[in-house]
Amino acid sequence: MTVSQLNNSIVPPGPDTSHDITVTEQDFYRLGDWFKTYGDIFLVPQVTRKGSMLVINHPDAIKQVLVTNSKNYAKGVGFELVKMLLGNGIIVSDGATWWRQRRMIQPAFNKKVIAELTQQMKDINLRLLEKWRVLAQQQAIIDITEETNALALEIILRALFSTDFDAICEKCGENPFAILTDDSARDLKLVVKYRALTKLVGELVEQRRARAEKPLDWLSIFLDARDKESGEPMTDMEMIDEVMTMIVAGSETSATTMNWTWYRLSQHPDVEQKVHDVVDQASYDRIPGIEHLDELAYIRQVVEEVLRLYPPVWLFTRKTLEDDTIAGYRVAAGTDIAISPYYIHRHAAFWENPDAFDPERFAPEQEKKRNKYAYIPFSAGPRRCIGDFFAIVEAQIHFGLMTRHFTLEHIADKPVELQPGVNLRTKHPIHMRIKPRTIADS
Ligand code: HEM
Repeated sequence: MTVSQLNNSIVPPGPDTSHDITVTEQDFYRLGDWFKTYGDIFLVPQVTRKGSMLVINHPDAIKQVLVTNSKNYAKGVGFELVKMLLGNGIIVSDGATWWRQRRMIQPAFNKKVIAELTQQMKDINLRLLEKWRVLAQQQAIIDITEETNALALEIILRALFSTDFDAICEKCGENPFAILTDDSARDLKLVVKYRALTKLVGELVEQRRARAEKPLDWLSIFLDARDKESGEPMTDMEMIDEVMTMIVAGSETSATTMNWTWYRLSQHPDVEQKVHDVVDQASYDRIPGIEHLDELAYIRQVVEEVLRLYPPVWLFTRKTLEDDTIAGYRVAAGTDIAISPYYIHRHAAFWENPDAFDPERFAPEQEKKRNKYAYIPFSAGPRRCIGDFFAIVEAQIHFGLMTRHFTLEHIADKPVELQPGVNLRTKHPIHMRIKPRTIADS
């Protein structure tokens, strides 16, 4: 037994049958049932893994594991599969390796760098604007899931490689990274193709290293980074792992967020109207830049509410390094822990009317009243998402531009259902009719 209650040796409640919790659709619903049956903390005996998994769904316990006692927790079983693809990249590594990488990568995410990178985000969105203009004139039906996938992927690839991205596409005849967002390629073949991409990234690293003039992008920053203690740069293998980590961690998460946001806007005319009022009155000329983001605070609220209802990373894990006590239960070293942003975000004790879409929850005065650890779309503590600001800026620029020009009307050809996997996506692509809002676009 790995977990026992203090003093009287009672274990937390939980199912009798053994089960390995993973990020499948079945487990998504299974967890929901278990929270209803057993409450905020329960224990699930595991089949192939050692001991039981402790599932926690209370802000105090979450704070303890992610923040106050975070040193006692490694990333855990949920990241083992990802490790196969991402080697020892920052998202899967632990301890000294992680800390070294985090310190070397952090400068790529400081606000000044992101402010510079917004120029690329703007250019990509302006090109998309021209494409959507033509489609809006015909009131065409677009696959917004595909559009947001392609958008988010290009934004990450240009943040990493800037104009080298054009050279890669030219050389390959297409965007070779597109397979990462292509649904039909999500099988074992993907692993093989993934390996080919790592080779390509290796070549890019090599070429960039040889260049005297380096553009400002993440690849240059990673190449210039030095370990604080040894003064050593990253090895080629580390560079490849980190570049692939950024692509995998930063594109689908942002894409699903924008996909769900367009869908939700189409379902709530009052919210959409408020967004239109905000963008119509904002002071930017064509497209918002980093200096306009305060004016787009309401768009941020909408996106934050989308991230509450549909946190892309809906489940993640930790493992205790030494014994701890969580919510009065003694937890032995080596115990697996699962945390679900989705379920804590819909916990009725911490959210009023939790299933309702209401961006006003994120108005500044409301935010103060909230328990900080009942909202963790980007996790919390030292392992909090490094790309959180980037992702919000990306969405604000996209919606700040596009909602000025277009309104997207949902085509109810298929039910909009959740598809829980590594990310919480929509089961079917979402189709929308694109309509112009302004005379210039009609
Ligand atoms: C809406 C968009 C995003 C969401 C919801 C999201 C969510 C998360 C979550 C929940 C974690 C932490 C998991 C844990 O605690 O175990 C995380 C970590 C991470 N994310 Fe994001 N992410 C997003 C966008 C991005 C972007 C745009 C990038 C980079 C380009 C990025 C890069 C990373 C990295 C490198 C880590 C690991 C950080 C570390 O362990 O030090 N993410 N993300």
